[in-house]
Amino acid sequence: MHYRKLGNTGLIVSELALGTMQFGGKMNMGNLGQQDTTRMVKAALDRGINFIDTADVYSLGESETLVGNALKGLRQEIVLATKVRLPMSGNFNHSGATRVNILREVEDSLKRLQTDYIDLYQVHGWDSNTPLEETLRTLDDLVRQGKVRYIGLSNLMSWQAATALMLQERLGLEKYVTAQMYYSLVGRSLEYEFQSFAAYHHLGILVWSPLAGGFLTGKYSRANPSPAGTRFGEAGAFVPFDREMGYRVVEVLKQVAARHGTNPAAVALAWVLGRPAVSSVIIAARKVEQLEQNIGAADLRLSDDDVRLLDAASDPGIPYPKWMVLQLDTAEDPRSKILYPERYADGGPWKDLRGGR
Ligand SMILES: NC(=O)c1ccc[n+]([C@@H]2O[C@H](COP(=O)([O-])OP(=O)(O)OC[C@H]3O[C@@H](n4cnc5c(N)ncnc54)[C@H](OP(=O)(O)O)[C@@H]3O)[C@@H](O)[C@H]2O)c1
Repeated sequence: MHYRKLGNTGLIVSELALGTMQFGGKMNMGNLGQQDTTRMVKAALDRGINFIDTADVYSLGESETLVGNALKGLRQEIVLATKVRLPMSGNFNHSGATRVNILREVEDSLKRLQTDYIDLYQVHGWDSNTPLEETLRTLDDLVRQGKVRYIGLSNLMSWQAATALMLQERLGLEKYVTAQMYYSLVGRSLEYEFQSFAAYHHLGILVWSPLAGGFLTGKYSRANPSPAGTRFGEAGAFVPFDREMGYRVVEVLKQVAARHGTNPAAVALAWVLGRPAVSSVIIAARKVEQLEQNIGAADLRLSDDDVRLLDAASDPGIPYPKWMVLQLDTAEDPRSKILYPERYADGGPWKDLRGGR
């Protein structure tokens, strides 16, 4: 296992984190009970994973409870992350990034996780019904009280995250250190804007669904798009993507995996691990054998040619205004050629911009 800093903090986490959406019986994401959860957590720790990500909403508290039980006597070994914001019951005040909901939910999460502090407390998404300042002040209070060590955001657009950071700065509040975002070889829209935003502000990206819910393992095909006993068979696709492009990407994953004597999942995870601003990639599995395969990504070094093939098969294009920014600020700026000549080797990454992509 290799380790990285969590964003710009001093905390060190494994570059692969254990995801926990498959623990608990209310989401059809694997429905694992206590015995399987405990086995999975132990297998992860044995392979050097020290970072676990859960959420209050995963099986409505069940995932946190199962993880809390599995971590008995191990809490200090682990960097523990959870989340708040999504509805926990039919009561409309048991939802949202409000002061009331966050303060109640943090106590419930602490009880379920059997701990008196959460290392990373994340807001699961934007809440257009609550003033941002209310959310940010509440999170700051939790850090001051010692219930939470660091705070993170999840699933925001760049302008929303930028506004939050600006407000935290202006009000002297604790700042977000991580951004938990979807990113995979069939879902690269993070590259349009968010990734460079995160790098600029030293936010550590925590990648969720790096295998697009298991699709990038290569176990789905045109002939059998949702086999029984799989996530797609039981719950359907979790993230939207172009299926035909997906099949082409899987072919390349198999080709690259064969070069390295490994499996497509490890290649897909190694590709995400090599992307900018990533602090950790959250992996998940229904079976320990899947987890072992995925952990293989930590020791896999993709060649430049591997990456070129994967990039080409999954190329999302460059939307406006990004292509104009690249063109004006880099490709056509004479200072850029003097300062970064290496970028212009082989025509530079912008050579296709004017080619009518
Ligand atoms: N912040 C957010 O909004 C958000 C959203 C989603 C997830 N998350 C976090 O991110 C974590 C990871 O997301 P995810 O579970 O969707 O990740 P994923 O890696 O895209 O999919 C994991 C699923 O793929 C299948 N799989 C994994 N490895 C495999 C292998 N080697 N061979 C065959 N099948 C394999 C398993 O499902 P089956 O065996 O059932 O097919 C497994 O549960 C979650 O657990 C959660 O902690 C966060």
